[in-house]
Amino acid sequence: MRKKIIAGNWKMNMTPTEAVNLVNTLKPLVNNEEVDVVFCVPAIDIIPAMEAAKGTNIHIGAENMYFEESGAYTGEISPKMLEDAGVKYVVIGHSERREYFAETDETVNKKVLKALEHGITPIICCGESLTQREQGITIDWIRQQIKIAFLNVTADQAKTTVIAYEPIWAIGTGKTATTEQAEEVCAAIRACIGEIYDEATAEAIRIQYGGSVNAGNAAELFAQPDIDGGLVGGASLKPDFGKIVCYNQ
Ligand code: PGA
Repeated sequence: MRKKIIAGNWKMNMTPTEAVNLVNTLKPLVNNEEVDVVFCVPAIDIIPAMEAAKGTNIHIGAENMYFEESGAYTGEISPKMLEDAGVKYVVIGHSERREYFAETDETVNKKVLKALEHGITPIICCGESLTQREQGITIDWIRQQIKIAFLNVTADQAKTTVIAYEPIWAIGTGKTATTEQAEEVCAAIRACIGEIYDEATAEAIRIQYGGSVNAGNAAELFAQPDIDGGLVGGASLKPDFGKIVCYNQ
């Protein structure tokens, strides 16, 4: 039985002061032992958010990292820095990183390998555009993203990772994929992992749905056999996030 994982993706929101306030507001609302709860926050918020979350079930994650240990990479955050800060999760290859910061399947793969090397669980994002969905190439596209992301990742490592399926057309648009659409792709991702590795790896890996998840649609999405939680943007900044995390109560 896979444990559900529900992660907030704060994106470029919340100053350090606001971050502490938000953690304090959400703390009593996200107390659900049955799910792993992660707040992926801007780099500058990681340390204060961790302090605020101390003693709770909230894990603080990062939204990105670079694939080198250290060096002349002005402005980047290294896996070593995240590890030292106690970060256990990092979002890799979000569609906004791919669109605005030129990330590719190849850089995603490098980052995934580095995160694993440092004991950080990558939340590996994939997803199709509206054009791709209309062209009927969604599954082919996602399979390619997954195959490249997992290059040189061992089965034992793959089992510990999290995949977030986020159709780009559903992100921040209020337009959620239907439960059937979300389940279809998450099942295809699991099948793809089964092909790359084996049945045990496919059964172990956790696959989230992301894209306009809210308090009203979370329970139905998370009840699908291949959807093991969600990656939540807009709604993770509001008390509603508590309802999403406690979808089963
Ligand atoms: P959204 O964002 O929930 O605001 O659609 C999801 C995401 O980008 O991870």
